[in-house]
Amino acid sequence: MPTPVTLISGDGIGPSISSATVRLLEAAGADITWDAQYAGMAGVTRYGDPIPDETLDSIKRTRVALKGPLETPVGEGFRSINVALRKTFELYANVRPAHTIAKGGRYDNIDLVLIRENTEGLYIGNEHYIKIGSDPRAAAESIALITRAGSERIVRYAFDYAEKHGRKKVTLVHKANILKYSQGLFLDVGRMVARQYSTIEFQEVIVDAMAMNLVLHPERYDVIVTTNLFGDILSDLISGLVGGLGLAPGANIGLGGAIFEAVHGTAPDIAGKGIANPSALMLAACMMLEYLTDEPRAQRIRKALEETVREGKTVTRDLGGTATTDQFTDAIIARL
Ligand code: NAI
Repeated sequence: MPTPVTLISGDGIGPSISSATVRLLEAAGADITWDAQYAGMAGVTRYGDPIPDETLDSIKRTRVALKGPLETPVGEGFRSINVALRKTFELYANVRPAHTIAKGGRYDNIDLVLIRENTEGLYIGNEHYIKIGSDPRAAAESIALITRAGSERIVRYAFDYAEKHGRKKVTLVHKANILKYSQGLFLDVGRMVARQYSTIEFQEVIVDAMAMNLVLHPERYDVIVTTNLFGDILSDLISGLVGGLGLAPGANIGLGGAIFEAVHGTAPDIAGKGIANPSALMLAACMMLEYLTDEPRAQRIRKALEETVREGKTVTRDLGGTATTDQFTDAIIARL
């Protein structure tokens, strides 16, 4: 039986990189039926809603989605798409691998996975202004909520991920030296979970030191787990270590399913020109195949993509070539 997957092509370069990705998966023989749905500006145009109920219903049915980049409409009354998806499907784990594909950058052997808590911390949206005297916005307060249950499930996710992917070490990143309650709870729970995984090394590092270490000695790290805001910042840092967002996939995984995506945006400056690099969405699709337990096919696609990028002959402009999205995709398919 083919696996049903919700496909949100997205805005800007989204439709072009999505159709390239679907073509690649079909060429690789992936047994998927796509349920095409709309979100972002495409959702507004069709249903007047950037995250239409039809799209949410589809993900509720399939529990797996591949999502192109979305443009969040500016203006009152529009929900944040990512927040709505995370809340609806309790996508508590954001998984961002950073892996060197083409040598010649600052580092040649980076292979990191950052696991970010996606639902708590400063992102719960509990903020308010404080009036002092006649100034209604004299101060502002944001609440960073850390729960024992939320910390436990994300650290456990990181250790399970390490075990499943044959990785050796989990580094927990925190700021418990200053934020003794919220970050302290995260660290305490992390230590407790770590004791249950005797085969995986556990390490704890304070976030500011981690930022420096990741730039100086990224090879020292393997799987990294951290709270929401630190994860947001460090995940882009590690993408920068391997050549930017053009090759960076991401996954949001949780109780209600999983959504796989390219980390970059809609690239309005090159939309419609047929020159976008589809690699990030293709690598996200490989993560999706692994999630669907089709690891061999994921590996085969990843290998063909990496070889094509490394050879450098038929690559898109952002990778230093002149190929169109379709020519690059054809070159990958030819290597499958
Ligand atoms: P962006 O990632 O779309 O573009 C930044 C630069 O990178 C541009 O020069 C673009 O041409 C280039 N670029 C990005 N992806 C590329 C690709 N696959 N191939 C070749 N070049 C690529 O970021 P920007 O300009 O800040 O955002 C544009 C729009 O995308 C905004 O509406 C933003 O809200 C949205 N966005 C959506 C995201 C999502 O849905 N996950 C994530 C980030 C931004």
